[in-house]
Amino acid sequence: MCGIIGYTGQREASEVILEALRRLEYRGYDSAGIVIMNPELTLHKRKGELAEMQRTLPQINGHVGIGHTRWATCGKPSNENAHPFLDCHGRIALVHNGIIENYMALKEKLQNEGHVFTSQTDTEVIVHLIEKHDKGDLHQAVRAAVAEIKGTYAIACIEKGSGQIIAARKENPLVLGLGIDENFVASDVTAILSYTNRVKYVMDGETVVITPEKVTIYGPDGEMVERSSQTVTWSAEDAQKGGFPHFMLKEIFEEPQAIHNSLLGALDVIENGEILPNVQFGSIKIIACGTSYHAAMVGKYALEELAKIPVTVELASEYRYSPGAKEFPLVVLISQSGETADTLAAAREAKRRGCKTLGITNVIGSTITREVDEVFYTRAGPEIGVAATKTYLTQLIALYIIAIRIGYARRNLSHDAMWNELSKLRAMPGAVQSVLDKAFDVEAAVDMLVPARDVFYIGRNINYPTMLEGALKLKEISYIHAEGFAAGELKHGPLALLDSTTPVVAVALTKDHTYDKMMANISEVAARDSPVLAIGCEDDKELPQVADLVLRVPCVDPLYSPVVVTVVLQLIAYYVALKRGCSIDKPKNLAKSVTVE
Ligand code: AGP
Repeated sequence: MCGIIGYTGQREASEVILEALRRLEYRGYDSAGIVIMNPELTLHKRKGELAEMQRTLPQINGHVGIGHTRWATCGKPSNENAHPFLDCHGRIALVHNGIIENYMALKEKLQNEGHVFTSQTDTEVIVHLIEKHDKGDLHQAVRAAVAEIKGTYAIACIEKGSGQIIAARKENPLVLGLGIDENFVASDVTAILSYTNRVKYVMDGETVVITPEKVTIYGPDGEMVERSSQTVTWSAEDAQKGGFPHFMLKEIFEEPQAIHNSLLGALDVIENGEILPNVQFGSIKIIACGTSYHAAMVGKYALEELAKIPVTVELASEYRYSPGAKEFPLVVLISQSGETADTLAAAREAKRRGCKTLGITNVIGSTITREVDEVFYTRAGPEIGVAATKTYLTQLIALYIIAIRIGYARRNLSHDAMWNELSKLRAMPGAVQSVLDKAFDVEAAVDMLVPARDVFYIGRNINYPTMLEGALKLKEISYIHAEGFAAGELKHGPLALLDSTTPVVAVALTKDHTYDKMMANISEVAARDSPVLAIGCEDDKELPQVADLVLRVPCVDPLYSPVVVTVVLQLIAYYVALKRGCSIDKPKNLAKSVTVE
C-alpha cells in the first residue's frame, strides 16, 4: 500500500527521493517522509499529502537517503506515525511496507530493554530490533531482526556514515533499479523509471546490500544469489497524465490500445495452447477481490457459454478461510496488481488443496506470478488511478481468450467457431473507441446523478456483474452510495427503496435475450418515479420511451457487451466525481494495491 524509495549514488538524494515519491504517491498518501545521510541522519516527515512534506522540507544535501508515502494500517495518520523511523540514537533509519503481526510482544520486550518508542506503529519495532542486533554490520543486524518478525514487510534502511542501503522483503513488493555509479530500491518500478529501466526483483526472504557500485542479493540462508536484470518496457512518460486532467480519464482513453495489446498473441494461446496446454479439469473456480472479482463474474458467463464448463466464482477473502470441498477445479486468480494479500493467500490455499492454478495479472514479476503454475499477462500498461479501469477491460479480454482456448481445446468450438469468436474480440478496440468518441454525451447525461444520495445499477445475465462494477466505480470515486442488482431481484426487496430521489442506471441491449425482461424492469422503476439513465444499443427505438435518458453503445454480440457497457459506466463515475469535486485519482480511504488482509 505504502510507497518506498531508497537512493545511493552521486545525485542529490532528496531530489531523487521527492521525484520518486511523487510517482509513488498513488500507493499511499496520508503522510510522507524522508531521511538523508549527510553524515548525520536528517529526518523530515509530515502528516498529509506529499506536497505538505515537500512544502516544509528544508534544504538537506547528501547522496544517500530513503523516503516513504504512507497509507495507514497501524496507528492513525500523524507526524509521529509517518515513516521513516529512527532508532534511539539516530544512527539507523528505516521505511517499511506491510504489517508486523507480533509487534506488540516485540515492543514490550524492547521497551523492557530500554528502547524508547515515539509512535503507535508496528513498523517502529523493526528499527529498534535492528539497533539491538547491530554489532557493526547493518546487513547482519537486519537479517537478525527480520528473523524475529512475524508478518509481512518490504523494508529499506540506512545508517549514519555509510553509503549503503539494506533492504529486505517478505510478501511485499520490492524492486532494485540499476544505474551507473548509482542504485535504487523501490516498492514499485514506476518510482525509478525516470532514472533507469534496468531492474532486479527481490524475492521473499531475501535481503539486499545496495551501494552506488553494486547490488548484492542474499537468499534466506544468507548465501549470495545471482540474478540477471530485466529491462522494463514502460517509460516514465507512460506513467504520466499525458495532458489529461486525471490518470483515470487518461487510462479510460487508453483502453482501445490496452485491449489491442492484450489481444496480441491470442491465437497462440488458443490454437497452440501457449496457456493451459493441458485442459484436463472438470470445472473452474475463479477467485479475486473488488473489481477483479467482477471480471471473474463476467468470466463465468463467458466460460460457461464458450467452453461449456461449470464455473464458480469466489471472493479471495472468503475462499482462503472456507472449509474446501473435495474437488480439484482449475483455480484462476485475478489480480491486476499481482500483490493483493487476500488473492495471494487464496493462491497458496488453492495449491495446498492440490489445485492447478492460473494467474491473470498486469504486473510482470509481481508476487502472484511466483505463486501460480501459469500466468496470463494482460497488457494494459501502468495504471496509476486507484479506480481500476483499463486493467479491468483487459482482464475481461484475458478471460474471453481463456474461454475460447478451453472451448476450442475441449472441442466445444470448431475451428471456424473459434475464429468467429476471435474476430468478435478483435473488433473490441474499435467498439470501445466509438464509445469514447461520445464521452461528451456521458458528461452531459450524468447531471441527473450528481446530486443523488443513492443510485441503483441494474442489469441481467452477463451485464449483471457489469452493473456491480459500475456501482463500485461510482461509490469508489464519487462517494455516492451505489448498489448493483440483478434486475430480477428488485421486486424481492430493493424496490421498496425507490422514489424520485433515487436514480437508476440500467442496461438493456436489443440483441440480448433478456432485453424484454429488462424493459419490464425499467418500466417498474420508472413507475416508482425513479429517474432512469439507460445504456442501450445504437439502433434501439423503444428504450427512449421508458428511460429518461439513453446512452448508446455499438450493437456488439451480447457475450462481449460488458466491454463496451463498462466504458460508459466508467465515464459515468468519472464525470459524476468530477462534477462533485472529488479527488478522482486518490479517493479517500483507498489505495491502489491492497497488500494487507
Ligand atoms: C478497483 O477500482 C478497486 N481499487 C479494487 O476493488 C481492486 O480491484 C481490488 O483491490 C483488487 O485489486 P487487484 O486486482 O490488484 O488484486
